[in-house]
Amino acid sequence: MDVDTGSDDAIALLLAMLSGRFELLGITVCRGNSDVETCTRNTLQVVDMLGLDIPVYQGCPDPMVRELSRGRVMNNALNRTSIVKDGKEYKVHPYTLPIPPARSEKQDRHACSFIVETLKSSKEKITLIPTGPLTNIGMALRMDPSIVKNIEEIVLMGGAVGTGNASACAEANFFHDPEAAKIVLGSGAKVRIVPLNATRSAGLYREDAAKLIALGTMAGKLAGDLINMRTDASDVMGTRGGDGEPIHDALAVAWVLDESVITESREEHCDVDFSGGACDGQLVIDSRRGYEHEPNARVAYKGDRKRFMEIMLDAFAKGPKC
Ligand code: RIB
Ligand code: CA
Repeated sequence: MDVDTGSDDAIALLLAMLSGRFELLGITVCRGNSDVETCTRNTLQVVDMLGLDIPVYQGCPDPMVRELSRGRVMNNALNRTSIVKDGKEYKVHPYTLPIPPARSEKQDRHACSFIVETLKSSKEKITLIPTGPLTNIGMALRMDPSIVKNIEEIVLMGGAVGTGNASACAEANFFHDPEAAKIVLGSGAKVRIVPLNATRSAGLYREDAAKLIALGTMAGKLAGDLINMRTDASDVMGTRGGDGEPIHDALAVAWVLDESVITESREEHCDVDFSGGACDGQLVIDSRRGYEHEPNARVAYKGDRKRFMEIMLDAFAKGPKC
């Protein structure tokens, strides 16, 4: 997994670790929801909470090229992930996760070197699940494009077909590093995309959070608390794009675990705009008929909220008790 932990990344990581269905070779971290050091510390907190020994590698502190252009420098104040109202701060992603501090340390090796070396030395193909900006994966593909032959598939959370969240038409992970997203989509790897369309169609509710907390596990409590925190923040900001609160990154993991959690998906020809204008970072899908574009990704459009919760409840019942 490649993450920018982050509230929904934390839930996605827990789901992957607790499902018992993955051999999680390592977790690489990029900048996104916060600076890369904070995202790494948050990731270590989540792994330590379960007492697991999964190596965490810190990756790129900045996007590949995005911020070299004036006017493309990320302005977090405009990103609408936190708000102060009546003296109280509401945040979609807490600065520190509400669990004990990390005990373990990140690995010395850089995330991109880990990705390249692990793919090159593996006898089996490996699935990548990136749930943050695609900087580390794009950089690894630039370091050694031959790694693509050992990628089973890339199942990523990112992009929006229509309304975005970081801008009118761009989703945050693609917006933060559009060049990296372009490299990944053009790499020839098998790609599945979970954009905002799918995550917004399968949002979770406060009653779902209550069910997770009632499991009596540390993972269930953290997931429930984070869902409530996200719900509070988007209620106050008025930013929610669907009915329930989208837990974006966990839906990508759920799709790897169970195909049926996505109820509508299509093979599409996908591109990313990186022109620096109003559509910077937009996922562009060419759905014209009669053109010679080969599809390069399967795009999820709708998810099954009920199935998503079943998968979550099944996994989050496991692990240390509160
Ligand atoms: O747009 C949603 C994505 O942006 C999620 O991955 C979330 O964690 C943030 O990084
Ligand atoms: Ca994320």
